[in-house]
Amino acid sequence: MPSVPAPAAPPPKSESALLRNAARALAPLLLALGWWQRDRAAVAVPALVAGGAAAATAVLAQRSRMGVAASVRRATVEAEQARERALDAASAHSARIQAIVDTATEGIVTIDSAGRIDTFNGAAERLFGYRAAEVLGRNVSVLMPPPHCDDHDGYLQRYLTTGVRHIIGIGREVAGRRKDGTTFPIELSVGEGWIGGQRFFTAVIRDVTERKEMQTKLGQAERLAAVGELAAGVAHEINNPINTIINCAQLIRDGDAPDDNCLVIQEEGARIAEIVKDLLQFARDDSDRPQPTSIFEVVQRTLRLVGENFKRHGVDLTVDVAEDLPYVKARPQQIQQVLLNLLINAKDALLQAGGDDRRVWMSARVDGYGVQLEVADNGPGIPGHLGLRIFEPFVTTKRARGGTGLGLSISKSIVEGYNGTLDVESEPGQGATFRVWLPLVERGD
Ligand SMILES: Nc1ncnc2c1ncn2[C@@H]1O[C@H](COP(=O)(O)OP(=O)(O)OP(=O)(O)O)[C@@H](O)[C@H]1O
Ligand SMILES: [Mg+2]
Repeated sequence: MPSVPAPAAPPPKSESALLRNAARALAPLLLALGWWQRDRAAVAVPALVAGGAAAATAVLAQRSRMGVAASVRRATVEAEQARERALDAASAHSARIQAIVDTATEGIVTIDSAGRIDTFNGAAERLFGYRAAEVLGRNVSVLMPPPHCDDHDGYLQRYLTTGVRHIIGIGREVAGRRKDGTTFPIELSVGEGWIGGQRFFTAVIRDVTERKEMQTKLGQAERLAAVGELAAGVAHEINNPINTIINCAQLIRDGDAPDDNCLVIQEEGARIAEIVKDLLQFARDDSDRPQPTSIFEVVQRTLRLVGENFKRHGVDLTVDVAEDLPYVKARPQQIQQVLLNLLINAKDALLQAGGDDRRVWMSARVDGYGVQLEVADNGPGIPGHLGLRIFEPFVTTKRARGGTGLGLSISKSIVEGYNGTLDVESEPGQGATFRVWLPLVERGD
């Protein structure tokens, strides 16, 4: 906005300068009077001086009134200019913020405390397929698939009354719903703020479809690699019942009673079928939906695959997992993948250390509203220079022997995908303990 120039104000004068001017104006008059009536001067001069002072005071008062008016005018103009500058700055700032919001590559959606959408930027339009005008003022639950869309108002209300946070300030992976009804995985982080006494929430939304697909592919590749690793043990496992079957068949041919032998053949055949089924199920893709999963069953299936492998390497495996543990919500073969990686890592660490006393403990128990699964070994522990970097992709000490360093990073993303955690505790030389925590199936799942 153009600014208004200030009118030129009279140059300020000090009080002493004004007095000097008044005295200068009265001096000739005083001199003339003194010459004309010298004897009366004794009386007249003080009177004249007093009159002069009064005149000077009047001049001063008028000048000072003019000065005050000018100062007020000047201050008013300056205040107006400052206000315009502040308005210009505020509108430039708000234009900049708007441009940032509009050009952000992540979806930005703000809602008020009733859940109504206030802001819907360009990236959010592209992600959800709505124009901003279609959703502004509507409840944010239009962007969520069931059951979350039905829960959201209750969740917001609970937060406003209790202050207990589930997503606000934390962020997590959830599903979004497009205008056409399709859903897609998003990473959501929500912040809270106040403007003019009104509470609002800002959601930053990132589409993680590609990342999820990549993770799934990596997970499958890693799982197939584990199948390869297990193949020798599984072949050995299958070899025992096959030999038994061959022997039984030979006995029958040699004239032995067929009934008992046939029973053994049946049992051993069933054992082989079970192992093959476990292996196929593990290798299968995991695109089916998460389901109530028994940790006990996953552990049993995993043991059928690695049991023989551990025995062959002289690793003593102790298992303490109760059958009646409550279920967690997951894809069973993904949890099996996590468990297998932890067990194979423990076995590798023990073999690498070269000691004779090779032990692994696996246990599970209810912990809070989840199940905690522990895999511990008495091996060399996590190398000190690696620390928590073991959870990063491609960090491995087994590259020479075909290790990819993906096992733990994939395991962690699988577990975190179910809102669980994967941690480790280890001292060099004191073994390592890995802990997986998975939330229990919620009612209604
Ligand atoms: N129980 C353990 N004891 C000691 N070190 C371990 C243990 N588990 C993992 N590590 C260390 O963490 C590294 C990373 O493990 P991760 O499972 O991610 O990859 P990897 O086992 O090396 O390769 P991959 O799993 O692809 O075969 C291992 O190379 C090893 O150095
Ligand atoms: Mg591994």
